[in-house]
Amino acid sequence: MPAFPNPFQGNVERKMTKEELIQAIRLNIAGELEAIYVYDAHVQATTNEIAKKVISDIRDEEKAHVGELMKLLHLLDPEEARLFASGEEEVNEMLKDLGISNPSDDLAQPSSPKTVGSLIK
Ligand SMILES: [Fe+2]
Repeated sequence: MPAFPNPFQGNVERKMTKEELIQAIRLNIAGELEAIYVYDAHVQATTNEIAKKVISDIRDEEKAHVGELMKLLHLLDPEEARLFASGEEEVNEMLKDLGISNPSDDLAQPSSPKTVGSLIK
C-alpha cells in the first residue's frame, strides 16, 4: 500500500538493475491481484447496481494490467516464462487424465459443482 504521507516516497536515487526490475514487476503483479481481490469483494458486498457495474469494470481493467505485466515479465525473464508454461502444461495433463476436454464448460455447470475431493480419482 502507498505511503502517501511521505512526500519523498516516490523519489528514486538510481535506476534499477534488470533483476530489480523483474522483482518490481512481480510486486506490481501482486498489487494488481490485490486490487482485483478488493474490487471483487466490494462488488460482492453491494446490491447497488451502478456501483457493481463501475467497480466490476475497474476490476476487469486490473485483470488486463496483470496480463500486461505478465507479458513484460516473460519478456524480461524467458526462463520464468518457460516455468509458467510448464505449470500450465501440468494442468493440461491433469485435465486430460480427468477426461475433461473443455474445462470452461465443465467448471461453469452449477448442477455439478467440483470439489477437491471430486477431482481425485
Ligand atoms: Fe492496475
